[in-house]
Amino acid sequence: MTSSIALIGFMGAGKTTVGAKLAPQLNTYQRDLDEVIERELGESIQEFFAREGEERFRLIETQALKKQLDQVGVLSTGGGVVMRKENRGLLSKSKVPVIYLRTQPEELLDRLQGDEQRPLLQQMDRDGFIRLWEYRDPLYREAADIIVDTDGINADQVATQIIEQL
Ligand code: S3P
Repeated sequence: MTSSIALIGFMGAGKTTVGAKLAPQLNTYQRDLDEVIERELGESIQEFFAREGEERFRLIETQALKKQLDQVGVLSTGGGVVMRKENRGLLSKSKVPVIYLRTQPEELLDRLQGDEQRPLLQQMDRDGFIRLWEYRDPLYREAADIIVDTDGINADQVATQIIEQL
């Protein structure tokens, strides 16, 4: 069985949590693209976003994605990784199975209530959130090899479903 996979999906879909469950089951380790970027930047994504803006963040995200897709392990990505066409190409052309954790926006909104870490979330109201989800859903599908619907199931169950489909 493969020991490299990439997890994609909207913010709050559980990419980091599910990644942490999957890695030991696949005898590998987890990497989180946002954490890799934060280590490289020496500051939080929130701070970088506030100063440099989203466009600059996306360029750095692409560079980090390129490097990380070449390495073994479970890679959890940031929710906006599919925004750039180049990234979707990198994901779908890579040999690494790309798993879309698909969660309905209403459930995501519940999970993300009170979150103050995510810069885009702070800028959006409920309608804006749902519009962004609807915009991104086909982009995740385009980049994914496997889609797992995560509504109403916990991270362990999501991890089990992924392993069954690898
Ligand atoms: C983003 C999601 C975040 C992070 C950044 C942008 C997005 O990652 O990469 O704040 O555009 O949806 P999570 O999906 O881990 O929240």
